[in-house]
Amino acid sequence: MTTVQPHVHLDPGALAGQMAADVRAGLTSTPKTLPPKYFYDARGSELFDEITRLPEYYPTRTERSILDGHVDDIARLTSAETLVELGSGTSEKTRLLLRALTDAGTLRRFVPFDVDPVVLEEASVAVAEEFPGLELEPVVGDFERHLGELPRHPRRLLAFLGSTIGNLEPAARSTFLAEVRATLGEGDAFLLGTDLVKEPARLVAAYDDDQGVTAAFNKNVLAVLDRELGADFKSEAFEHRAVWDAEHEWIEMRLESIEAQRVHVAALDLDVSFAAGEQMRTEISAKFRREGIEGELAAAGLRLVHWWTDPADDFALSLSVPD
Ligand code: AVJ
Repeated sequence: MTTVQPHVHLDPGALAGQMAADVRAGLTSTPKTLPPKYFYDARGSELFDEITRLPEYYPTRTERSILDGHVDDIARLTSAETLVELGSGTSEKTRLLLRALTDAGTLRRFVPFDVDPVVLEEASVAVAEEFPGLELEPVVGDFERHLGELPRHPRRLLAFLGSTIGNLEPAARSTFLAEVRATLGEGDAFLLGTDLVKEPARLVAAYDDDQGVTAAFNKNVLAVLDRELGADFKSEAFEHRAVWDAEHEWIEMRLESIEAQRVHVAALDLDVSFAAGEQMRTEISAKFRREGIEGELAAAGLRLVHWWTDPADDFALSLSVPD
């Protein structure tokens, strides 16, 4: 079996400390919030995988179809020698890119970048088997903090798919895009997947499916806190909510406390009270318009050069280059 030693910019101790600090900040603020990155333990990743196959959750399959139709254009336009993928949970879509860049004859190296060393190891092994001769340089890191430490190689294509950028609030998004710009040099490119604004009923359904998979995914964050921080959340005491915020043009996932209750978080030595009906925000998932994201890219020093969508304009892939 192939093994590749990842470059680690984030040791498990730092990760745990970050979680404690994030959760303390979120549970003591008004309204209460939790950061979405803690959804993805083994169970959460499994549930997310299930979400991507739900009839209501169109983003994954739509992005894949756009990629399918344009991956050869992307390969030709970028002549990328190195593919860097931020958040490597999307290995299936990565394969389409790896295949096209390999067939175009330019690809030499793949740099999967993820917070989770286990996800990285699995992705690396699978890719190594399918693309013999491809150099693998996995990096463990947080895309909000460690972009500056990405290996510098010529002709890099940096891919950030799945509309994960929608999880960032506007200020964090502009910081992130500025860091993307800072790591890119002449000849590099940035491929970004963004979910688009559409009819609210479809958006809400995508985050509140009939089978309750998204509800289970949302509540799973409580199980993560129980296990990792010794909290005593009872998931039956909370209800899943998905709300369209028309002003900010984002979906908010929330957990609503069914009754008045008190939760203890042992690792933080913290007691938290919830009122009956109190809602805690667990995720924002921003939806985009072309003018908006093009403007945000431009503000970061990135020039949008291609914009590909599906026929219904549900999702977009954009290709940008440094100004
Ligand atoms: C993986 C962050 C893109 O926001 O649509 C799916 C996560 N949350 N259903 C999204 C998610 C609820 C997803 N991202």
